[in-house]
Amino acid sequence: MTAIRLLPDTLVSQIAAGEVVERPASVVKELLENSLDADAQSITVALEQGGAKRVRVTDDGGGIAPDELPLALARHATSKIATLADLERVATLGFRGEALASMASVARVAVTSRTVGAPHAWHIAAAGGPPSAVEPASHPLGTTVEVAELYFNTPARRKFLKSEPTELAHCADAFDRVALARPDVALTLRHGDRVTRHYPAGAHAARVGAVLGDDFRRTARTLDAEVLGLRVSGYLGAPDQARGGRDAQYVFVNGRFVRDRLLAHALREAYADVLHGDRHAAYAVFVEIDPSAVDVNVHPAKTEVRFRDARAAHQFVFHAASRALAGAAGATPVPMAAAALAGDRLLARPQTFQPSLGVAQPVAAYGAMFERARESGPATAVVEPASAEAEQPLGFAVAQLHGVYVLAQNRAGLVLVDMHAAHERILYEELKTALDAAAVGAQQLLIPVTFHADAADVAALEEHGAALASLGFEMAALSPTAIVVRGVPGALAGGDIPALARALLADLREYGASRVLTERRDELLATMACHGAVRARRALTVPEMNALLRRMEETERSGQCNHGRPTWYQLSLADLDRLFLRGR
Ligand SMILES: Nc1ncnc2c1ncn2[C@@H]1O[C@H](COP(=O)(O)OP(=O)(O)OP(=O)(O)O)[C@@H](O)[C@H]1O
Ligand SMILES: [Mg+2]
Repeated sequence: MTAIRLLPDTLVSQIAAGEVVERPASVVKELLENSLDADAQSITVALEQGGAKRVRVTDDGGGIAPDELPLALARHATSKIATLADLERVATLGFRGEALASMASVARVAVTSRTVGAPHAWHIAAAGGPPSAVEPASHPLGTTVEVAELYFNTPARRKFLKSEPTELAHCADAFDRVALARPDVALTLRHGDRVTRHYPAGAHAARVGAVLGDDFRRTARTLDAEVLGLRVSGYLGAPDQARGGRDAQYVFVNGRFVRDRLLAHALREAYADVLHGDRHAAYAVFVEIDPSAVDVNVHPAKTEVRFRDARAAHQFVFHAASRALAGAAGATPVPMAAAALAGDRLLARPQTFQPSLGVAQPVAAYGAMFERARESGPATAVVEPASAEAEQPLGFAVAQLHGVYVLAQNRAGLVLVDMHAAHERILYEELKTALDAAAVGAQQLLIPVTFHADAADVAALEEHGAALASLGFEMAALSPTAIVVRGVPGALAGGDIPALARALLADLREYGASRVLTERRDELLATMACHGAVRARRALTVPEMNALLRRMEETERSGQCNHGRPTWYQLSLADLDRLFLRGR
């Protein structure tokens, strides 16, 4: 085992800093992750008073040598990385050397640990100040960390802890996430003198059944696909098992539970054909990828990741999940043909086209633009004269394919556009510009849209009215279970308004208004754009398609949608000639 060392300052400054301990559940998560990193095979979590009074985690892992115990509690000291290169390919759950130090600054922390071959264990304690001396103690091989009286020295923060059942529920969620990721490890959760969960070590299917219920496991589709350096596996809940909330959506990247918009989007899209828009599928999806191809150092709580090739990850997960969902219930693993990914190498990358900047347009309703276009042109496929093509980088629309793709002819050859992705990107940039200029106005809907909501949505609406207004939304609660939307930002008026409103409320609920409007703003705009964009399978007229092409040319970064997927491809005449082996 590597020794614990202080990280050099240059490396410390590279690590995403911020709040590590938010509530007892964060303590549970951090301690479990430490035990897993120490190769524990069996871990017990014991809570008192929802974890606020005490969280104690005991493992049978490798332990900490006595001379390293003070360092374990020191800030920026870790055994898991030593250099920037290590950080860039980190395979352990921990890497900041922060967790125990943060806990020791806001709680009474005690660590007792025994390493292989040591005649007995050693103990150290700290409570908001320098640690005690290291003393002999009794403990089997492994480590017990106890975190007691969270926020004993910061009463203002203690007040923010919720009721015992609420904190306990969060701790149990944190425990279950680890349990889903590591079926090979035996896990026990106690609250007071009760064992509330016990998961023996075993196969993945058994663990998924134990955590998410046997009904879920029996009816779920199995997901298992692999291409070079990337594997996705897990269970996709049957559409009829879908729920009103997103609470049963688990995504793991290299064993780490993450909230990842890109993957969530890929999965939502995969379910789009089989699930009604306001239902949320239940799933447990595990992505394994070469650690150097994913950045885990994005968020202080390590719940977000960034893929180096976001587009490939999105495509791969989307295709694998779509295939699994298209198969029969309980189907055997669906192998993913590498060709599905290799296929897009054939095509030119969209980056070759530079949108003409500086043609800034006022925020306009895209729906209205479609309407104008509809009036101004015939709905037949007329190919514009070649001279005009020369002037328009994306050329002119020839046809729409399966309600999803627009085919256009430009000077170089054929342009293929994913119309939903392209529209999404346009809306996103428009919303961003408008919000920067504080000019997002609500456009009154001719017919207000009412939708069924739950108590949490209604509460979020009441709490965050001001934030919603600043985003151009006019909404009110009609009853404890119904919300009416009277106005939305003009650009979004043609979108799926209930889905939009629900997504917005879910974000506000999860992150709070101030985070949503600052650090999460771009994610929020992406969600808004996604729900506001023209749905796939909507038939467009040729003038509408041309209007879309012209808007793409004016929009920055229009080559990729907000989820990193490409929005269009150029297939040159030379590419086409090659396809047909012409001129050889
Ligand atoms: N249960 C444990 N068993 C063995 N070693 C442990 C255990 N818990 C902590 N350690 C040691 O203490 C060090 C500090 O732990 P801490 O959780 O503070 O930081 P980290 O895991 O390295 O990084 P992070 O802040 O990202 O969690 C670890 O690097 C590890 O060497
Ligand atoms: Mg840790």
